[in-house]
Amino acid sequence: MKVLVVGSGGREHALVWKIAQSPRVAEVSCLPGNAGIAQLARLIPGKAEDVAYLLTVARAERPDLIVIGPEGPLAAGASDALTESGFKVYGPTRRAAEVETSKAWCKEFMVRHGIPTAAAEIFDDAVAAHGYVESVGAPLVVKASGLAAGKGAIVCATAGEAHEAISSIMEAKTFGEAGRTVVIEEYLEGDEVSILAFAAGDRYVPMVPSQDHKRVFDGDRGPNTGGMGAYSPVPSYTPEIAERVQREIFGRALPALVAEGRPYVGVLYAGLMLTRQGPKVIEFNARMGDPETQVVLPRLDSDLVDIMEASITGSLRPGMVSWSPRAAATVVMASGGYPGKYHTGLPIHGLEETSTLDSVLVFHAGTAFDAAAPGKAGGGAAPVKTSGGRVLAVTALAGDLRGAVARAYAAVSKIRFEGAHYRKDIAARAIGRLGT
Ligand code: AMP
Ligand code: GLY
Repeated sequence: MKVLVVGSGGREHALVWKIAQSPRVAEVSCLPGNAGIAQLARLIPGKAEDVAYLLTVARAERPDLIVIGPEGPLAAGASDALTESGFKVYGPTRRAAEVETSKAWCKEFMVRHGIPTAAAEIFDDAVAAHGYVESVGAPLVVKASGLAAGKGAIVCATAGEAHEAISSIMEAKTFGEAGRTVVIEEYLEGDEVSILAFAAGDRYVPMVPSQDHKRVFDGDRGPNTGGMGAYSPVPSYTPEIAERVQREIFGRALPALVAEGRPYVGVLYAGLMLTRQGPKVIEFNARMGDPETQVVLPRLDSDLVDIMEASITGSLRPGMVSWSPRAAATVVMASGGYPGKYHTGLPIHGLEETSTLDSVLVFHAGTAFDAAAPGKAGGGAAPVKTSGGRVLAVTALAGDLRGAVARAYAAVSKIRFEGAHYRKDIAARAIGRLGT
């Protein structure tokens, strides 16, 4: 069969890598992809969010399955339009994806259905929002309701910071229309964990837990990013907590989405805070996480294409999903300056060397071929250059977390590009708690 993957990041490289392993798959194409994905799939240029263009490509290519990676095309209605045209699509409809694309809608949905989450108020009016901050005080979290590339949640330690956040989101419109409505919520304390689940209507199968590192610098300092690294499993995620997450979160959310006429097919991502009162939802995402995917999919023993097809046809069963007991860690190598301004077009060295390492997978995020370089004209492999903020996600697997992390950093040390930076403490806290 032919599979078309939509997207261009490290998540999509991991998806393409896993899909290409299915014995049923003869060909994978990716729109638009990147230099790493090009080793496994045929790249189709173009914009992933352009639904009319996606339809044109799908009609020309006739894929047997279309997998949508990022939230942009889902928010634009790609899944609805492609499904209406007769394609098998893995990824939720626009209305189901509102779990991610409207934090205000999602908060009300969670409250309606008794899904544990931070207490919150919703505001369309900046004056009222400022007044609310005055009445409740800090700490608080101010969130733009719409999509803001992972940067729309501002944790405020003081009322002053919360006022600034409201002004920036609602008055200066830092995130544009995404900040027309804000959600102001209670600050939750605890460990964060990402639980992704294969979902199909009211059926679902949770994946192994993972933890992202959202801040740019070691020790969780500096601004939020798209994610600087991840690991799996998460030792603090006990079977008791897992059982509660299934019962109170996925077990409530998925039937409720069906009941509200928004049946969900795709990966539902729950970003959780493990608080003293139990697990609470920080956010839902309508897709796999990035970089969580780069540690979760390498642990999946089953055929991902079978799981996706079964989800679409309504025959998803827990027995279809099995996991490797090995641990995985991924270290994101980012461009100098990211998450602020950064340069692109810088040559990346050392990729060849890492391609032969045991249990190491270098997933590309912001990379492209250097068309101007002599290697391509000479017929050899074209050199790869940076083309985004997050450039690579270097994943390794081993018998335990400590081994996976050591292996990932050994691979990272072989890769160089000007200005490259990465966190040195991926999984360090979890490993510290495990002891020797
Ligand atoms: P979000 O975009 O909603 O995932 O938020 C980004 C990050 O902000 C999360 O990963 C948390 O670290 C933090 N955050 C969001 N909401 C809360 C909350 N209610 N309490 C504490 N931290 C939060
Ligand atoms: N890693 C966080 C996200 O994908 O939203």
